[in-house]
Amino acid sequence: MTRFDHHRRPLVIGIGGTTRAASSTERALGFALRGAEATGANTRLFGGTFLHSLPHYAPEQPNRTKEQLELIDAVRHADALIIATPGYHGGVSGLVKNALDTLEELRADERPYLDGRAVGCIVTAYGWQAAGSVLTSLRSIIHALRGWPTPFGAGINTLETRFDAVDTCSDPKVVDQLATVGQQAAQFALAFNAHRAPNPLSAGQPLGETQPARLLHAV
Ligand SMILES: Cc1cc2nc3c(=O)[nH]c(=O)nc-3n(C[C@H](O)[C@H](O)[C@H](O)COP(=O)(O)O)c2cc1C
Repeated sequence: MTRFDHHRRPLVIGIGGTTRAASSTERALGFALRGAEATGANTRLFGGTFLHSLPHYAPEQPNRTKEQLELIDAVRHADALIIATPGYHGGVSGLVKNALDTLEELRADERPYLDGRAVGCIVTAYGWQAAGSVLTSLRSIIHALRGWPTPFGAGINTLETRFDAVDTCSDPKVVDQLATVGQQAAQFALAFNAHRAPNPLSAGQPLGETQPARLLHAV
């Protein structure tokens, strides 16, 4: 892991979409990434076309493709992520899960897997049942990867909500929800990274000689 520079904008990585050119999942992810940008983050999208270029993750094979290494390196340097999957047969799609499986390559990092990173979760499905159950399932996967699912996750019923173009959505409430996912991921990154920045109040003091928290508020 590189040392954290607390003056730079946090990097939020988006992973998600489907193989379809007009993927509503990928378009929903775009709205969330723009919410993260509005909160002060830089973003990078790994959409359906990229995810489709990843081979099935095979842990026993020592060599990784250029695309696998690109994803692994991007996530390694990310401060937060947003994952967007369709509900496929009541679960996370194989395309998205394969990308998450590939993150096994981060197991020996100083920050293993998604450690210390907020992860916004988005699910699209043809109905509320899969939207809810797959969101829970995706959050369980993020927990397994040591990530911190954001408090708000977006479940979108694509029978009711249309994404007719890259930046259009038929339901303004869904737009707000997706922006909230992006905002929470970026806000967490900013707060978490500020916490990791050197504390001027305790700099140079041995452990145990720092000011008690309550004194910091005394004037
Ligand atoms: C193979 C497959 C399985 C699906 N399974 C479910 C499902 O179990 N429940 C559901 O509500 N929708 C299901 N759907 C519908 C998709 O979740 C929904 O159309 C989603 O919005 C597709 O995302 P996209 O527009 O990004 O391709 C399935 C679609 C496909 C292609």
